[in-house]
Amino acid sequence: MKRILPLLLLVASCAQKPANEAEAVAFAPVLSVLETNCVHCHGDNRLSTMPPINDTQAIAKLIGTSWIVPGKPEASRFFQVVTFPDEIPGAMPPSGHAISKKEVQILRDWIKAGAKLPGHNVKLAPQGPLPRSI
Ligand code: HEC
Repeated sequence: MKRILPLLLLVASCAQKPANEAEAVAFAPVLSVLETNCVHCHGDNRLSTMPPINDTQAIAKLIGTSWIVPGKPEASRFFQVVTFPDEIPGAMPPSGHAISKKEVQILRDWIKAGAKLPGHNVKLAPQGPLPRSI
């Protein structure tokens, strides 16, 4: 038994992923949507009144405000703007490159599930070309 116990503890600890790690996994697709579509203009290089989203600590400041209402994507300004059709002023990203249905769904699901962030700070950097020339 003496030898088996540490092994059992190891197996048990592997089976139960710490919450932070699970949240990091859940946030990964959201991170990718934001890095390819939003951070060009809403990161370090900030173009709007919306507070920057250049790392997860910055995003945390939006959560629980009208920008991101946990559990309520439709009430979240941050989400509303991505569902506007291109021709509506204020649609995000600005016209010419609406994000895909799948990407919209990723943002919706994340807010719906409580907009959980990883336990450690994660930096967001723009990926790929600017979604649109402004
Ligand atoms: C090409 C640059 C650019 C990209 C890419 C971009 N935005 Fe914006 N965004 C702006 C500018 C400029 C404004 C301020 C002007 C305005 O409100 O129309 C703005 C405003 C906003 C606002 C505040 C608007 C309001 O009506 O309250 C939100 C929320 C927002 N963006 C979210 C996003 C999200 C989410 C993405 C990615 C899906 C994104 N933006 C991508 C340039 C951009």
